[in-house]
Amino acid sequence: MEKKEIVVSGIRSTGHLHLGNYLGAIHNYKQMQDDYDCYFFVADYHSLTTHPDAKEMKQSVFRVVAENIASGIDPEKACLYVQSDLPETAELYLLLNMLAYKGELERVPTFKDKVRQHPENVNAGLLTYPVLMAADILIHKATKVPVGNDQDQHLEMARNFANRFNHRYGDLFPEPFPFRQSETNVRVMGLDGEGKMSKSENENATIFLSDSDDTILRKIKRAKTDSGPTAPNMDKPDYIQNLFNLLEVVSTPDVFQQFEKDYNECAIRYGDFKGQLAEDMIKFISPIREKAAALQRDEAQLQKILNLGAEKARESARKTVEEARRLIGLNYK
Ligand code: TRP
Repeated sequence: MEKKEIVVSGIRSTGHLHLGNYLGAIHNYKQMQDDYDCYFFVADYHSLTTHPDAKEMKQSVFRVVAENIASGIDPEKACLYVQSDLPETAELYLLLNMLAYKGELERVPTFKDKVRQHPENVNAGLLTYPVLMAADILIHKATKVPVGNDQDQHLEMARNFANRFNHRYGDLFPEPFPFRQSETNVRVMGLDGEGKMSKSENENATIFLSDSDDTILRKIKRAKTDSGPTAPNMDKPDYIQNLFNLLEVVSTPDVFQQFEKDYNECAIRYGDFKGQLAEDMIKFISPIREKAAALQRDEAQLQKILNLGAEKARESARKTVEEARRLIGLNYK
């Protein structure tokens, strides 16, 4: 069998998935799982850097897994697992920590941000977050990592650690690079037009995959618009363009074209436009929401899926850790 390239991506375990996550990332995973050897995991170890409530861990992990499956990750095709089900990652992280320097870790912008935001919780896990992320990737010898450009520095560090390891102990790791499928990526802004759609910004400007039909309708009705175009074929302001982008995703091409035409002829009525967008958005989101909800209620099924994922992931992880130990000289038997 021909060997496929290996893709790894970590899914944050905190917060509810929203349309921005879906259109920006998960949506692409659907195609990837046919073309590559994919490992997708819920990054629960990583979440400990910010001390989440222990009582809520299981529920968040199960929710994220259910929402990702409902969005199109197929656990039969991709390997879907929980990071802490693969303690091999923790061992590789320990080994890589010996190759990571305090100075370079302190210079990482995401670390500096965290220090600014939470000066009372600057723990070593936070400092070595990029090392754990490198371990996640290198444990499967992945070469492609589908992440946003906010993760570029982390990936560069993963390449550095891989190269240092290879140089010091012998060739083991290929270099992982960002994997962007930009043609299909849709950058989704908040419905208030204030930057990226994001759970941490404004809840009312974010459409979650768990939102009820009524909530979707309410949020879309409240989306930012204006008094309309003042001349034919005007460029759209970004908050209007954003709504058109969403309509293009959820509606049929002829509906989309009609509203484009209305806009260009200054005949658009934002009330009608929003009504259509809400209706089609509800058709788009509700099956995902219902599927995720059904899965979340079926704990046995989720457990089965995650066990299968952990087993599959362990095969490749064990091999890598064994090779790393042997190259380092940690083999006394
Ligand atoms: N740091 C990533 C984020 O914040 C999550 C992540 C952890 C990850 N480990 C990874 C992504 C490995 C890709 C590969 O989104």
